[in-house]
Amino acid sequence: MSNPAKPRILTGLQPSGTLHIGNYFAALAPQVALSRTDADVFLMVADYHALTSVREGALMRTYIFDLVRDYLAAGIDPERVTLFRQSDNQDHMELAWVFQCLVSVKFLELAHAYKDKVAKGLEATAGLFNYPMLMAADIVLYDVDLVPVGEDQRQHVEYAREAVSKFNLAYGQILKEPKEVIEKSVGVVPGTDGKKMSKSYKNTIPAFGTREEIEKAVLSIVTDSSGDRPEHVFAIHKVLYEQTGRDLSALDALYDEHKGKYKALKDALTADLDAFITPMREKRAGITDTDIKTILASGAEKARTVSNQTLERVRNAIGISL
Ligand code: ADP
Ligand code: TRP
Repeated sequence: MSNPAKPRILTGLQPSGTLHIGNYFAALAPQVALSRTDADVFLMVADYHALTSVREGALMRTYIFDLVRDYLAAGIDPERVTLFRQSDNQDHMELAWVFQCLVSVKFLELAHAYKDKVAKGLEATAGLFNYPMLMAADIVLYDVDLVPVGEDQRQHVEYAREAVSKFNLAYGQILKEPKEVIEKSVGVVPGTDGKKMSKSYKNTIPAFGTREEIEKAVLSIVTDSSGDRPEHVFAIHKVLYEQTGRDLSALDALYDEHKGKYKALKDALTADLDAFITPMREKRAGITDTDIKTILASGAEKARTVSNQTLERVRNAIGISL
């Protein structure tokens, strides 16, 4: 069991693409802040979940290394945090199956994320459908108190609670019900076309891109020729200022000073983004694949030590340990 004086927290991200600045500000940065509190933090690379959308082995491998590198570059200290990969611990698969035998198809059919992803064109595989039960296992295996997630993942934590309550009803008070903590919204970070920045819309600015990549993305920001202020350039610039605690009146002054000069304003945004990203990009470049494998191996070992105990309780309760 976790130490009651120290809340245990678990969250994670899927290695399903190159992180953009929307992911950085909404998900990565809050997780880094959390990892610096005195909570007992578990951070998971949800690679089995990513299998619902990534169908190329080489790409999956790249995304896994990338995500761990991103976490480390953004400031995660693997000495303080249990940073591990879902597929390194098969306990997740086993508990997910147990949960799937307890919740109904009707209940899973109500999941917003499933409906949204299918509506966006993702194939309605059995994996995508059962996704919430794997996520429930991810959480419940670690006797987790709190699960910090974005609003889009709130229902999945509710599903984890439901799985626990079905289990405990059948077998006794064995598992702990987790609670979601909805991260203070940074709002929707707009993309280069003014819509929500998303890898599915190809309107992203990479969170750890080279100066050239940042510049290319910024130059592609859609501007209409009327008006003094390039609205979409300003919107992204504003997010950067807000999230890095800079004075917004200085930004207003900059846009007033360069009224109608869209190129100069795009150059200013490129320079500001690059200055923000450069230290992380440099840190990222120094992290080798071997470092990553070592960190993940040690994280997996710590994770298994905890999850094995929970699974032991489950196996005893369901009657498969003879
Ligand atoms: P994408 O839409 O690019 O596929 P994901 O769905 O993988 O991004 O999101 C991972 C995390 O980043 C989630 O917590 C999500 O809420 C957050 N996120 C993604 N895009 C944005 C955005 N444009 N603004 C704010 N948060 C975002
Ligand atoms: N479903 C989450 C997402 O797409 C990732 C995830 C998988 C997760 N397992 C988790 C988040 C457990 C928190 C806890 O963002």
